[in-house]
Amino acid sequence: MKLDRLEAFSSNRFLADYWQQRPCIISGWLEPGALPLAELLDLAVSHDLPTRLVSGHMQQQAWELVHGPLEVEDLPISAQYWTVLVQDVDKASTAVAGLLDQFRFLPDWAIDDIMISDAVDGGSVGPHVDAYDVFLVQAAGQRRWELAMDFDSEYDQRFELRLLKSWVPQLAVTLEPGEALYLPAGVAHHGVALGPCQTWSVGLRTPSGPEMLFALAESLATDETAERRLPVEDIDFRNPSRLTDTQLAAIRQLLQEALSLDDIKLAEFSGEYLSRWRQWSGDTEPVEPERVLNCLKQGHSVPLAASARLALTDSARGTVLHVNGERVDCPATLALELAAQRKLSSAWVDYPAAVEQLCELDAVAAPVRWLETDPANHRRKLSST
Ligand code: SIN
Ligand code: CO
Repeated sequence: MKLDRLEAFSSNRFLADYWQQRPCIISGWLEPGALPLAELLDLAVSHDLPTRLVSGHMQQQAWELVHGPLEVEDLPISAQYWTVLVQDVDKASTAVAGLLDQFRFLPDWAIDDIMISDAVDGGSVGPHVDAYDVFLVQAAGQRRWELAMDFDSEYDQRFELRLLKSWVPQLAVTLEPGEALYLPAGVAHHGVALGPCQTWSVGLRTPSGPEMLFALAESLATDETAERRLPVEDIDFRNPSRLTDTQLAAIRQLLQEALSLDDIKLAEFSGEYLSRWRQWSGDTEPVEPERVLNCLKQGHSVPLAASARLALTDSARGTVLHVNGERVDCPATLALELAAQRKLSSAWVDYPAAVEQLCELDAVAAPVRWLETDPANHRRKLSST
């Protein structure tokens, strides 16, 4: 396995040659300033973000996992072999969420979260494999990553963490601040902090077939037009309850009919489902539509909440916007502009019903955030949240 290094990031080249195909290192693209650990833990506690403390290392073979909330006082005194990991930090900090502006070349509905891990020397979460694509962005210090494309996928049953039982790396690389390692889903990895370090993981996740089927079944079951029921066919008069081959064929036929959505229904379902899948369920502040409209009337733009998930679909009347699980009626030009910029421009003032719907869907940032959004490129250091 070979690991290419991309020096000048080009999203087109990345999508053509690496995305969901093979890992690579990208340098000179992202350099988020590290968030002090105390600030990270404060954010986690005040926004109820999923937090874990992982202690252990390969030689010791005794991994421990503690779930948060965690205060600074809960951390080990030892200066070695532990890591704190906080998920969904982008939902709690506008400055952290700003890093995602560099990822707008990927679908909004696939971008899951930014997880920040802060480790002391030797800190690691052990060798494992994730079912999602990830960009591991080094924010401070150094981390040595070992990777394997071919590996024994058996898990070590001794630990709560899903760690690979036998670990044979095929390649290793040390990441410095300003470097990112892209890993497609399914590449096994093991990162070890070389001294204190902080890593930001930008994760992209999509649903599995059964997950989508489950949601589709739920939406079809409430659709009153789907009235045809299973016919009772080819009854075996000795054993009337037996499911005969003909009966099974009828079941297959009914299921296939339920699944054969026309293009319009498929697009509608997909837009709604993907724009609500893994949607943030944490606390959000209600936003008054009047306040948004007033701001727009004054010629300002209003940012979407970091947690808002968008999907666009095509229809005979043009592009359709879906936000947090609902279709939002607006002109195609505004749908496209909102997806690209994640901001309501002053043109939305003419669509008060859509603005009201976006507020009801918790898709608009709280007013306190309106002045905070900084379109500046996130290469520069972030100093606060
Ligand atoms: C870490 O940041 O320590 C772990 C991230 C990962 O392996 O996915
Ligand atoms: Co991982």
